[in-house]
Amino acid sequence: MTETYESDSFVRAFREAAPYIHYLRDKTVVLAISSHIVASPDFAHLAQDISLLGNLGIKVVVVHGVRKYINDLMQQSQTTLPSHLGRRITNEHTLIKVKQACGEVRFDLEAALSVGQSNSPQMLTRNRLISGNFISAKPLGVIDGIDMGYSGTIRRIDFAMIKQHLQQHCMVLVSPMGHSLSGKTYSLSMAEVAAEVAIGLRAEKLVFINEEDGVLDASGQLVRNLSANQAQELFEKTPQSKAISRLLPSTLKALQSGVRRVQYISGHLDGSLFAELFTKHGSGTSLAQNAFVHIRQAISDDIPDIIQLIRPLEEKGVLVRRSHDYLDHHINEFAMLEHDEQVYGCVALKQFPHEKMGELACLVVSPYAQEGGYGELLLEHVKNQARAAKLKTLFCLSTHTGEWFSERGFQDACIEDLPLERQRQYHQDARGSHVFVLPL
Ligand SMILES: CC(C)(COP(=O)(O)OP(=O)(O)OC[C@H]1O[C@@H](n2cnc3c(N)ncnc32)[C@H](O)[C@@H]1OP(=O)(O)O)[C@@H](O)C(=O)NCCC(=O)NCCS
Repeated sequence: MTETYESDSFVRAFREAAPYIHYLRDKTVVLAISSHIVASPDFAHLAQDISLLGNLGIKVVVVHGVRKYINDLMQQSQTTLPSHLGRRITNEHTLIKVKQACGEVRFDLEAALSVGQSNSPQMLTRNRLISGNFISAKPLGVIDGIDMGYSGTIRRIDFAMIKQHLQQHCMVLVSPMGHSLSGKTYSLSMAEVAAEVAIGLRAEKLVFINEEDGVLDASGQLVRNLSANQAQELFEKTPQSKAISRLLPSTLKALQSGVRRVQYISGHLDGSLFAELFTKHGSGTSLAQNAFVHIRQAISDDIPDIIQLIRPLEEKGVLVRRSHDYLDHHINEFAMLEHDEQVYGCVALKQFPHEKMGELACLVVSPYAQEGGYGELLLEHVKNQARAAKLKTLFCLSTHTGEWFSERGFQDACIEDLPLERQRQYHQDARGSHVFVLPL
């Protein structure tokens, strides 16, 4: 028997992460960090993880917010901050506070990102963090008759200078402030700066690190994946927190302009950044321009696609043969997995309500798309369906794929554990399949 290293979960996690680390090496990731996170005690861990990204050869640009620091300063001086259309109105007095807040966040960030990791050779490879006057700004001007004062918008970003620093293996820190050619300073929106920086650098990812876990659906559940259109619809129907709502316009602009992924994660959850970047399923909400993986109920029109998926496996004896007629009659049991409107897999759930059991059958992922996590998504889908139907046990019969099910929590079982009707069919089929059950 092959021995396993005692910390098996570490080995698995490392194997899962390695291809993602390899993929992201030399690519640019923009991290937009809320000032609430920088100010929280949880930031120490996150800062260490950010430093590690730099050491893994990923080009890291950090954009920070200032909202919490400004609010605290304004509270101390018992002044309130007027705003219009979600943007602060910055008068001369506020601008002084904004500059002060910006300086404080910057120093806190620099300090946290300068900490070496104890007990590791990384102590010797401290990341260099560069900041500078990368952004030229212009005033927002007068909107709806309201003078926005020193609240501004981006005029130009010096990408050449940022790239030069990234090439030299430095991390770049960008503040939400910009200067005009006449030497005036303007306060900018962190989300806008982060999106423009990500667009201009053709970043692989733009990660917004906030206090929230991500986007929530109407029942308060975290939504893992969203296309740009789905995000727009969801934000209209289900109000999100102020912090998350503020990100939408910049997120959509970044996606439309070629940033492949925008991700929202919580800075309070230790390890969330690594989970988002280096695991199949991430930790927060991942947004992309095009439709994501989508699992839906099958319809009769799907039969040709199902046949294309299952026939080669029937011929090999991996799956029992199902005729066109059978599929037509049982189409309601099937679900289809689509990615960008292409069918990549299917699965069926046959219910035995009397025994409160369900059979997972016909689980297939196209050979071109295997090992991308689709099989696991289909399994999750069936588990959710079975739970919703109040079933207590899921079972499956397999001749070739037992190991895959065992690794996902299924236990060996015997024929007598199956519903009677299924036992009879088992004997008729005479395929000698192994039986697996999963308590729900
Ligand atoms: C089994 C199947 C659905 C998995 O789909 P998938 O999208 O490739 O699965 P995931 O990406 O979620 O998981 C991939 C992992 O499963 C492993 N795996 C794939 N087939 C396996 C098998 N027959 N036995 C054990 N492990 C298997 C892969 O090596 C990979 O391992 P990794 O995590 O170390 O990378 C797919 O391989 C398939 O369609 N197989 C043929 C049909 C089949 O056997 N269906 C089951 C009928 S009961």
